[in-house]
Amino acid sequence: MRKKMVAASALALAAGAVVVGAPLAARQAKTAAQPWMNTRMSAEQRADLLLRAMTLEEKAGQVSQQFMFGAFEQFAPIVKGSKVGSLLFVTDPAVINRLQRVAVEETRLKVPLIFGYDVIHGFRTIFPVPIANAASWDPAGVERAQAVAAAEARAVGIHWAFAPMVDIARDPRWGRIVEGAGEDPFLGSAMARAQVKGFQGPAIGAPGHIVSGPKHFAGYAAAEGGRDYDSVYISEPQLYNVILPPFAAAVQAGAGNVMSAYMDLNDVPAVGNKWLLTDVLRDQMGFDGWVVSDANGTKNQVIQHFARDEADAAVRSIDAGNDMEMSFGPAASAETLAASVRAGKLKEAVLDRAVRRILIGKFRMGLFENPYVDEAQAKKTLADPAHRAEAQAAAERSFVLLKNEGGALPLVAGAHKRVAVIGAMANSKRDMLGPWAFQYDLPETVTVFEGVRDRLGSAATVETAPGVQLKRDVPSMFEAITIPGAAKPEPRWDAARAASEFDRAVALARRSDLIILTLGEAEDMSGEGASRSDLKLPGDQLRLFEAMLATGKPVRVVTMSGRPLELGAVIERAPAILHAWYGGTRGGTAIARTLFGDVNPGGKLPVTWPRSVGQVPIYYAHNTTHAPKDQGKRYWDIPSTPQFPFGYGLSYTTFEIGAPVLDTATMGAGGRVVVSVPVANRGTRAGDEVVQLYVHQRSGRASRPVRELKGFERVSLRAGEQRTARFELDERSLQYWSSAAKGWVIDPGTFDLYVGASSSAEAYATFSVAGLPRPGVSWSGRKK
Ligand code: NOJ
Repeated sequence: MRKKMVAASALALAAGAVVVGAPLAARQAKTAAQPWMNTRMSAEQRADLLLRAMTLEEKAGQVSQQFMFGAFEQFAPIVKGSKVGSLLFVTDPAVINRLQRVAVEETRLKVPLIFGYDVIHGFRTIFPVPIANAASWDPAGVERAQAVAAAEARAVGIHWAFAPMVDIARDPRWGRIVEGAGEDPFLGSAMARAQVKGFQGPAIGAPGHIVSGPKHFAGYAAAEGGRDYDSVYISEPQLYNVILPPFAAAVQAGAGNVMSAYMDLNDVPAVGNKWLLTDVLRDQMGFDGWVVSDANGTKNQVIQHFARDEADAAVRSIDAGNDMEMSFGPAASAETLAASVRAGKLKEAVLDRAVRRILIGKFRMGLFENPYVDEAQAKKTLADPAHRAEAQAAAERSFVLLKNEGGALPLVAGAHKRVAVIGAMANSKRDMLGPWAFQYDLPETVTVFEGVRDRLGSAATVETAPGVQLKRDVPSMFEAITIPGAAKPEPRWDAARAASEFDRAVALARRSDLIILTLGEAEDMSGEGASRSDLKLPGDQLRLFEAMLATGKPVRVVTMSGRPLELGAVIERAPAILHAWYGGTRGGTAIARTLFGDVNPGGKLPVTWPRSVGQVPIYYAHNTTHAPKDQGKRYWDIPSTPQFPFGYGLSYTTFEIGAPVLDTATMGAGGRVVVSVPVANRGTRAGDEVVQLYVHQRSGRASRPVRELKGFERVSLRAGEQRTARFELDERSLQYWSSAAKGWVIDPGTFDLYVGASSSAEAYATFSVAGLPRPGVSWSGRKK
């Protein structure tokens, strides 16, 4: 009772401080008397002051975010009524400024909006899809890429990216594997860190940068059956050792936001999961930003049979630690939270906690001082040619050479006078961009055909034909909605033309002396809502491949997809395969330069490539168990080994990685092991090798994976050049979360160490850990 009175009087005070009739309120707003505008105070102090002035309704609006699929006129009253604290999917700087003007000039407290967007792998300049960026094994390059994306997004007035997606994905049926860094927590953590730094710059609020929101917290990629949004069951050790590390890395890199996941995690929706959002994210990882739900994630708790109704859903997510609700249409929070507080169903202090976190983010971003964007400058920033050059370099570093028999690649420009670039994606601009791009410029996007044509110039005649067309049986989710500002993809030809298009491609191949054949998936075959039950080449592509081989002309294959595909016959029969993912705005140029040897591919698979979908999930860091003599025979019909191991990728040159040299044979308490690895380019071309270091614990409190990545470095070497890569292992490299100990541990004993050019690395050493057991270290590096 007493508490209620205090809350009520605080409320009266807050309301009374400003709302005393419209004219006075307006006057007070003009006098800049708002104490929270004092920039000498910290973001936290300013947020506290502002919070005290807010009504319950304003607070409920502040924690609400809406998709802006509609006109300014439709959203202006929502902003004016303080029904939202944030909007997403507005990308026109003029509209952003108009909306912001409503928030800053026409609302009682003048709290600016924060604009969010899916800046996933570029904004206007599209970079390779995230899984391709991860295949570069080049965190510094990935950081630069996201810095460009941030600069472009910030230029139009976007303050916040719903990225990076740091979900560890071990099931390529799941379409969103394209959006992450693949299967490994160590590589995933490096990519998470790099992306957060790229987006945010030196600190939240740095000019030209935006807030980064790693997602989807947590476990989303483990959807049962690879079916997007399905429930997830993950053991605690798997959560701590595999799923959470990239989130911890992102938090340690200073991520200002985190997005909670859609699905049930061990029967509790992530958005309403207090253990996950409060105990783990806040208390264990030390996250101090705000958490946003995924789209309609809060309301979905009703569909998940967790919440009674939308009001209950809004209470439960905010109570769990989900601060902002992303919503199609009015958010349940805006509609119901004030009443829930008044009815005693939610403590006002809990609502305040969420509002405060959001306001701190806005203060840190400098939105109160600089709410508007320079519309003229936006155009210039989006047109910056340096951004295109960076995207091309990123694409060139992302390609993975899967096969190269007898040096079939690189091609020699001019050696073939008639070149055919064939395949459904050979001349498709939209397919070059990948599934999570909306603000691209289609005309400037370079296809494989255009890249090859431009590269060869007068040295050859280059022609193209699709041969086949790729189409999903079910329309993609993005076909159903109009994304403001998104260009329309090229129309597909109708089915009646299928036979003649196929024949046209064969005829073109016959009169050419080289065939560059693209195979894979159309861009909308991976991404959100784009799971598959099988990994075969869709459509009539295998027949096209056979028809190309049957011409007797040399065939070089470029595969494009956002996931590993079952390529069986292609791998057996094509002399060379370059996996090019979706390379972005300059993808075609980068592919052509790679095919013709201007650049040497140095990307490595960030995900194990299965032989067949039946092997899924298949990942290198698996535990082992007793087996019949031949470990390879876990299935009687196919080998149980993958098609290509994690970390695999060829080069046009040959590298030699020597035996690892350790500075000590024993790691004691607080100690380190420094590992030196000689690497030499024994070929005749410059190239990049990714030196990889894996560790295996022989015995301990838990069975541990056969090997785990604990270090890597992408090394560029001239022909004949030699270098030493250095890695440092410390306590954190060896700790793991033990279900027996219910916490982080390091087990004493013997460890195996492997170095090489993939997870099949063979160069070997051992070391031991002594002077332990001792407590491990926590996420934040604090002793536990
Ligand atoms: C749903 C997706 O799951 C999420 O990744 C995305 O950021 C939001 N929609 C906003 O578009």
